[in-house]
Formats: sequence, C-alpha cells, structure tokens
Amino acid sequence: MDLYEYQAKDLFAAHGVPVGPGQRVVTDAGAASTAAAEFGVPVVIKAQVKTGGRGKAGGVKLATDAGDALGKAESILGLDIKGHTVRRVLVTPASTIAEEYYFSFLLDRANRTFLAMASAEGGMEIEQLAVERPEALARIPIDANEGVDLAKAKEIAAIFPTDVQDAAAEVIVKLWETFVSEDATLVEVNPLVRDGDGNIVALDGKVTLDENAAFRHPGHADLVDAEAEDPLEAAAKAKDLNYVKLDGQVGIIGNGAGLVMSTLDVVAYAGAEHDIRPANFLDIGGGASAQVMADGLEIILSDPDVKSVFVNVFGGITACDAVANGIVQAFGLLGNVTKPVVVRLDGNNAAEGRRILDDAALPGLQRLDTMDSAARSAAELAFKGA
Ligand SMILES: Nc1ncnc2c1ncn2[C@@H]1O[C@H](COP(=O)(O)OP(=O)(O)O)[C@@H](O)[C@H]1O
Ligand SMILES: [Mg+2]
Repeated sequence: MDLYEYQAKDLFAAHGVPVGPGQRVVTDAGAASTAAAEFGVPVVIKAQVKTGGRGKAGGVKLATDAGDALGKAESILGLDIKGHTVRRVLVTPASTIAEEYYFSFLLDRANRTFLAMASAEGGMEIEQLAVERPEALARIPIDANEGVDLAKAKEIAAIFPTDVQDAAAEVIVKLWETFVSEDATLVEVNPLVRDGDGNIVALDGKVTLDENAAFRHPGHADLVDAEAEDPLEAAAKAKDLNYVKLDGQVGIIGNGAGLVMSTLDVVAYAGAEHDIRPANFLDIGGGASAQVMADGLEIILSDPDVKSVFVNVFGGITACDAVANGIVQAFGLLGNVTKPVVVRLDGNNAAEGRRILDDAALPGLQRLDTMDSAARSAAELAFKGA
C-alpha cells in the first residue's frame, strides 16, 4: 500500500525523522487559508496524490500569507496530476532550502537484499539521474541481519557534502527504523534538505507498506483511503477475496494464483485479435466453497466492464464435483445471471463435476473441456457482448 506524503511524514515524525515545523491536511481552500494564518509564516501548499512529479505539474506552490494560500489552494484542488485528481492539500511552513538531496531505502528484489540509495543531487527525478549520471547515485546494499547502525549510515551519507554527513547519518538511522518497524518496502525522501539553519529535514516522503505484514500493524488500516480505493477491490477485500481489477472485458475466476496467472495469459492471447483482455485477477484458492464461488461471481458480474466470465478450475484437494456444486449454488444465490459464463473443469473428479454442470443446464453457462478452447470462447463472447 502506497501512502500519501502527509501519512509518510506522520510515520517519519513518529520515528524521530525531522519533517519540519508542522503540517495540516485540508480538503478545501478556505481551510488551507485558515491553516496558513495559524502558521503565520509563508507556507507551501502541496497536492496530496499518490504519484511523483507534483512540483512540475503545478501541485506544489509557495504562499506568502493566508490570502495567497486561498488562491494557491484553489488552483491546486481539483487538478489532475498523471490521472490522479487532487482532493486534499497539505499546508506546511515553507522551509528555507540550502541544498536538496535524495535518499531511499527499498527492497531490491532482483538482488534479494535491501538497498540504500543516496545522492547529493536531490529534488529532480531520480530515474533521470540514474540514467544520465549513475555515478552521482550511491547504491549501497543493506544486510537484513545487520541493518543500519550509525557506522553504516555514515558509509551511506558519504555521498553528501562533508559537513552534513554526521547529521544526515543520524536521520538515515531513523529512516531505517521507520523502514523496519513499519514493515515498509520503500521509504523515499526527495528532497532531503539542508535547511537555512543547517538542519537535515525530510521535505517530501514516499512510503510503501508491505500489506503481507498488515496483521502486525493494526494501525495501518487507518491509512487506507477508502474514497480512492477501487470499489470492486474494496468489496472483494471485505469478502477476503484475492482480487485485482484489470482493464479488460473477460472476468476471470480460478483456483491457485499460478493457474489464474496463466489463465490471464491464455485469455489475453485468445483475445488479442479483437483487443479483448482479462478484466481481473481472482484466485478463489484451495477450498472453494459455494459461498466463495458466489462471492467471486458476484463481484465479477457487477463489474460493468465485464462482458463474459471464464471460470477455470483445476480440481486438487477440492474436487471438481464440489466446485461444480458451488457454481450451481452460486447461480441460485445470485438469481439472475445475464452475462455468459464459460467453465473449464479438470483434475480431481472432473467427470463428476462436468456431469453436475451438464445436468444443471444453467442458463448462459457453457462448459468446455480444455483451457484453450474455453479461453477462446470467453474472448469471443466478450467481443460479441462488447
Ligand atoms: N516545506 C517546503 N518548503 C519549501 N520548499 C518545499 C517544501 N516542500 C517542497 N518544497 C519544494 O518543492 C519541490 C517539490 O516538492 P516535493 O514534495 O518533492 O513534490 P514532488 O516530488 O511530487 O514534486 C521540492 O523539491 C522543494 O524544492
Ligand atoms: Mg519529491
């Protein structure tokens, strides 16, 4: 889960990372103006959207007083930044900036390690710097068992100007504490600045939390932005379904993440000619009960983009007859299924499962024996229905 800047900075502050003298998140320009008046100093108004490059897009503006803050907030609220609509802005006292640096901790999957990245040239887009001047970006692997103590932090901070290295190292240790204790996969500060008083301050913050560790952090649930969540994904999450919305037209249900992944590939291949693609990922897992099948079908069928559904099940511990009964009961629970559903059952007790479906003769349900033929049919039905 990606966090907003203000949430990232709240976490930073909780772990002792300096983030400046205060911040207020507001949803209307009037409140931005009030906040600016209360701070009583020039403020920066910052769009809160989960994407970078806000500054360049006109989403970060300096306001000299409350009146100025009103106008600046008005111009930022409602802005579209890379497809994200600005619904709230952060108001924070403007810092004087002497220098801007870049810093991040991240999970480096390719190298199976954690990585610290730092540069004395912050503020700009780091991807660009990494391509154009790779020598300006330090990449230092972090041993997960050893972590980052002050000595390691000083090694990382060696890329910064000599006179800030000690202060930066102390902040880096605290950013590592944030990274580890919050179970983050990314903590990025761009810019990390040296302010007018020589202090090191995080002026921007990007944090990605590892949702697999959510059970260890009951407080993280409060960081979810229900408003911005995809409604189908939210409904699926509420039912404990492993669902990801995609942008195609063929709804997909399968058991086992590997099978569902290959089903997405097969459907994309079958539909390529007419630009028909999978509409979602949904893994109903091992012991798929009728209720889980009904929940899954309900979510997928309620997606207006879905024109056909492909249920692809390989019976293992849960045998095909149980899945077939689940599908029959799911149709009963859902009542009126109007979109075509293509089912492929194979594996444990496939013959019995197929017989159950054939006997039920469910309206709009087509049963095919192979994954390829079923994918082709689902793609064709979606094309006709689109
Ligand atoms: N509190 C602040 N005080 C002064 N300048 C700031 C402040 N916050 C951001 N800025 C300036 O705005 C630039 C862009 O802000 P930033 O938060 O990095 O947004 P983004 O990375 O999305 O463009 C920063 O590089 C910095 O120069
Ligand atoms: Mg930034």
